[in-house]
Amino acid sequence: MKAMSWALAVALVFAVAGSAHAGGWRHLGDAGRIERRPDGVVVQSGPARLQVSVHADGVFRVRLAPEGTLDGDASWAVVQGAQAAPVTIEETRDAVRVRAGDTVAIVHRAPLRVDFVDADGRALLAEDASLPMAWLPGEHGTRVRVWKSMPADEHYYGLGDKAGPLDRRGRAFAMWNSESYGWQGTTDPLYKSIPFFIGLRGGAAYGVFFDNAHRSSFDFGKESDGTLSFGAEDGPLDYYFIAGPQPAQVIERYTALTGRTPLPPLWSLGFQQSRYTYHPESKVREIARTLREHRIPSDAIYLDIDYQKGYAPFTVDRAQFPTFEKMIADLREAGLRTVLITDLHIKHDPDNGYAAFDSGMRNDAFIRNPDGSLYIGEVWPGDSVFPDFTLARVRDWWGGLYRDLAAMGAAGYWNDMNEPSVFNVPGNTMSLDAVHRMDDGTTRDHRAIHNVYGMLNARATYEGLLKLQPTQRPFVLTRAAYAGAQRYAATWTGDNTASWFHLAQSTPNLLSLGLSGMAMSGDDVGGFIGSPPPELLTRWFQLGAFNPVFRNHAATDTRPHEAWVDGPKHEALRREAIELRYRLMPYLYTAAEENARTGLPIMRPVFLAYPKAESFYGNDRDFLFGGDLFVAPVVDERLDAHPVSLPPGAWYAFGTSQRLVAAKEPIKLDPRPSPTPLYARAGAIVPMQALVQHTGETPKGPLELQVYLPDAGSQDCRGALYQDDGETFGYRDGRFLRVAYACSVDESAASVGAQVAHDGYAPWWNATRVTLFGVSRRPSSVRVDGKAIPGWKHDASAKTVTLDVQGGARDWKVEVVR
Ligand code: GLC
Repeated sequence: MKAMSWALAVALVFAVAGSAHAGGWRHLGDAGRIERRPDGVVVQSGPARLQVSVHADGVFRVRLAPEGTLDGDASWAVVQGAQAAPVTIEETRDAVRVRAGDTVAIVHRAPLRVDFVDADGRALLAEDASLPMAWLPGEHGTRVRVWKSMPADEHYYGLGDKAGPLDRRGRAFAMWNSESYGWQGTTDPLYKSIPFFIGLRGGAAYGVFFDNAHRSSFDFGKESDGTLSFGAEDGPLDYYFIAGPQPAQVIERYTALTGRTPLPPLWSLGFQQSRYTYHPESKVREIARTLREHRIPSDAIYLDIDYQKGYAPFTVDRAQFPTFEKMIADLREAGLRTVLITDLHIKHDPDNGYAAFDSGMRNDAFIRNPDGSLYIGEVWPGDSVFPDFTLARVRDWWGGLYRDLAAMGAAGYWNDMNEPSVFNVPGNTMSLDAVHRMDDGTTRDHRAIHNVYGMLNARATYEGLLKLQPTQRPFVLTRAAYAGAQRYAATWTGDNTASWFHLAQSTPNLLSLGLSGMAMSGDDVGGFIGSPPPELLTRWFQLGAFNPVFRNHAATDTRPHEAWVDGPKHEALRREAIELRYRLMPYLYTAAEENARTGLPIMRPVFLAYPKAESFYGNDRDFLFGGDLFVAPVVDERLDAHPVSLPPGAWYAFGTSQRLVAAKEPIKLDPRPSPTPLYARAGAIVPMQALVQHTGETPKGPLELQVYLPDAGSQDCRGALYQDDGETFGYRDGRFLRVAYACSVDESAASVGAQVAHDGYAPWWNATRVTLFGVSRRPSSVRVDGKAIPGWKHDASAKTVTLDVQGGARDWKVEVVR
């Protein structure tokens, strides 16, 4: 055991005596009066009150009011109101047990503390009896903290995109949205604050969401080996315990609580080309032309801050972009959407005809200092003012600023610098005393709002776009976030560096964002800072092709990062990676829809699907792309073999009949440049399409289904397909198609079936090409819907059978008879 900190040791000595002082901390003492409520209990302890309630199925809420009065119930994150759930309460001499479903909260009387156990009484999350919850009044509010015992074999995930390994055990983290240019493996905090983590032990998981937007901190055994703790500098002690035991269930419940990502526009899943900055207009046009000439499938071009006049958001520098609207229209013609950066700082530019500033002043939209003067901070445009996004009317005003850009044809918007970043001041952010106004007429200082400020910026953008273009799915990219930001925006990991370290760091960051509710995420492919050598850039394209957001971006002073810059050999590998993503678009879009519906991320750590596969608990390199594909990317500079260990069960090398089974020894692959090692689960049915140059192009030919046959008798062969128009909200009125696929294998035949579960959208195909992998012997016949068909093919060396099923969305059954 590591040496315990002084504060902790003193706290330990005093805490046992009940509510006591230790370094000023006051810990909860013994329980006094217990009040039963339909959803739980409220327990008095001296002046303090502790409330333990069942919030929803599998979700408990714990709130502590040191002075006895619970704060108003406002949350920036939680969208799910308390749900009525069957709750039973039992009182014994030592404790009160609040039971809901398979989880019990044991509220111990002496000292007052809460443990969570499962139906069999096994501890899930237990409080450290020697360290009850505590608070510490101070100059800027009251600090609060919770300590829990930390089992030696438990692993911790989440907290958004933190640097370093995916498993947070043994480290401590702060939550304070921070501009982090050039962040490295130990930099903390970063741009986002998502105070949610998952504990995983022996295949069983639970989650904790600490809903406090002040600067907070999490310690997973760094200060003291057997103790995890979390707390904040001020604000409510208010946390949710989220039961599993499946990690996927924890994520579903967490995203029910804090909201899910709305279905993104299809184009945003395409490849996106960005740079700081493509300008002037001729350069943008040249990039668009080159993407098409080199046949690099792509869907978007980003314009960074140089398209604006003097970096003033919501302006266009007409000297550099003489036919801006025409340019956007021409790009659109070529299947490329334009995404515009619109930073939140508004240039402080009085009496100069700058509409965003003038209208903001007229609307009293900007944040002020305590003395009533405007808060002014320096950012890209120089002196700038900052919208008071906590006010609904200011979010409305901000949303309206997009009217002109939307009319010009822009398709998406990029909310950067929204931690907020402020230059040349200590802490690189807004003055902590700046005043935010609330809709109820009260105010908060920046300390209380800082961590939600960026999310409210994204919210204002998202909601504004919904008003301006009610039928279009908005696309917003945000850098800063708080829990719940997934409802408004996709995100990326900020200013990474062109290094092998950052390539390898990409996956744990994006996996963690996905586990923390924000599945629509990516990083700057190639690295933002610096110039990647060709091989690094190629590997980055190959990894990025499996990231939910796939965007190539680079800083001003770097060498070009586009796919074609390193000659034909590298270009071919990069193109191949991008092409595979486009061929997999039906599969990827289906995974995005699953994410919108259930919260399950698109990129998944192996333990999410195989919770008992402990050898993957610490694997930061490999991941599942959707439910059925396993990606084992090359993220280091290698001379020796690239080792790959497969998840449990049988797998196929993607697109082949080569079957592999997880073995003790990893598979060793040639380290020389080649496509990313990719595997399909035996039993996967993967929908694909013909190659297109952008998602607006209708694929030629049939829907392609790759069927990776499982062992005879296996029940686990399935796939899914979701389709709609890709851009409107028509799906909410039932205008979508959902098909479930299943297959089975026995001694006489392999069968594959399609079942239309929802038939509300006519797909682009009028035939389905089915390829079955793993068929060594030539079948005696192939039947569709019971009738033998001609025209099927058996490839003996590839061990595949291929056939076409005519028709669009319909139920069908294929039998490949031995
Ligand atoms: C910030 C962003 C980066 C952007 C730059 C200029 O550094 O993180 O992506 O290119 O600002 O807008």
